[in-house]
Amino acid sequence: MSDLARLGEARPGEAGLGDKGFGGMGFGDMGFGETIATRLTELAAVSDEAGRLTRLYLGPAHRKAADLVASWMREAGMSARIDAVGNVVGRYRARDSGPLTLMLGSHIDTVRNAGRFDGALGVVIAIEVVKAAFKSGKRFPFAIEVVAFGDEEGVRFASTLGGARALAGTFDLKALDEVGEDGVSRRQALVAFGCDPSRLSEEALSPDRVIGYVEAHIEQGPVLEKDDLPVGVVSAIDGITRGIVEVDGVAGHAGTVPMPMRSDALAAAAEMLIAIENRARSRPNLVATAGKIDVPGGTANTIPGLVRFTLDIRSPSDAERLKAVSDISETIAAIARSRGVTARFSVGHEVPAAHCDDGLSDQLAQAAETCGVTPRRLPSGAGHDAMAFDRIIPFAMLFVRCRGGVSHNPAEFASPGDIDVAACALSTFLDRIA
Ligand code: GLV
Ligand code: MN
Ligand code: MN
Repeated sequence: MSDLARLGEARPGEAGLGDKGFGGMGFGDMGFGETIATRLTELAAVSDEAGRLTRLYLGPAHRKAADLVASWMREAGMSARIDAVGNVVGRYRARDSGPLTLMLGSHIDTVRNAGRFDGALGVVIAIEVVKAAFKSGKRFPFAIEVVAFGDEEGVRFASTLGGARALAGTFDLKALDEVGEDGVSRRQALVAFGCDPSRLSEEALSPDRVIGYVEAHIEQGPVLEKDDLPVGVVSAIDGITRGIVEVDGVAGHAGTVPMPMRSDALAAAAEMLIAIENRARSRPNLVATAGKIDVPGGTANTIPGLVRFTLDIRSPSDAERLKAVSDISETIAAIARSRGVTARFSVGHEVPAAHCDDGLSDQLAQAAETCGVTPRRLPSGAGHDAMAFDRIIPFAMLFVRCRGGVSHNPAEFASPGDIDVAACALSTFLDRIA
């Protein structure tokens, strides 16, 4: 077995197909879990990097994954197409020619060195649930669109959720000019992917024709594991401000410039990072992360003249988040002044906290109960495609228990037994709202 195939593998004794570890009630054995786990393994092998899973938006692996997912959609009785922004859209027609559509899905782009469940799980569960309906000849009084979004992680370009925003009708066309680290613009990347960005606005959905959007996703946190629950229903998703801090100092010789005479951009950035961490630690509902730092052109014998680091600030409270952004920007400026450098925080992505629809969430919870689980409600600290639909169409999310709360890490794992419960809940949800 390759290292890649081993990532996220079940450990001996862990819940698998047929597992009845939750009170012996018999859920977790609908027959979906192993099939979905096998498909996730297949999808995880489609990577831009050998030996680990990295599938960036509009990259070569994303293109291959989109084709693979489209083939699974067709096998599940759907028509499938790649839209103008790189989403794979599968459509399972309604029983009659009624105008309504229910959207399901998640994303197939990943972070670098990702786990195999983040995003892909929700796409594959949705396809398998539709496939089960198709195989049994079942149609619903609404069409189902399964969407495999392509731009959820925001690794390649400054803004993110482009795929979901195009459908929501809120895509800002200025984002087409964003340029990634490889020097390629979003517009150029779309064209290379085979998309026509000039048709992007045609992808916007008609809210009066859409019942809602429902997304299954690995929890990416420890709450369900702590409560010994295979699934949970999401109450709301934290708001996010993300951008780049650029610190400009003066490059100089590491051996000749006395310490008091330096304008060291990296030392200033280090002081900023500690101050940012302290600010986030001062409030219970606030997190701040610098996930990437670069010293462009840096060498061991040069005082750093330029540093860039990413900054991602989140909270369930928009007021809390915006206050933190303002305070952190002031702190960055103050540290820069005291160290004789300049610094600027440029925001590239901003999305407010988003609240899940009570009606759809209740239906999901009741569907999970039919599958033998009384799910708890929990907030999401992670961002999701669903948040782009806030105030456009109703949306709801189902979380699947995550081993150790570990995510954005190849060790990320959800058991086939828990995945089975999620698929049962989604399939029952479709029957309920039909
Ligand atoms: C996506 O995983 C995000 O929360 O940034
Ligand atoms: Mn995700
Ligand atoms: Mn993610």
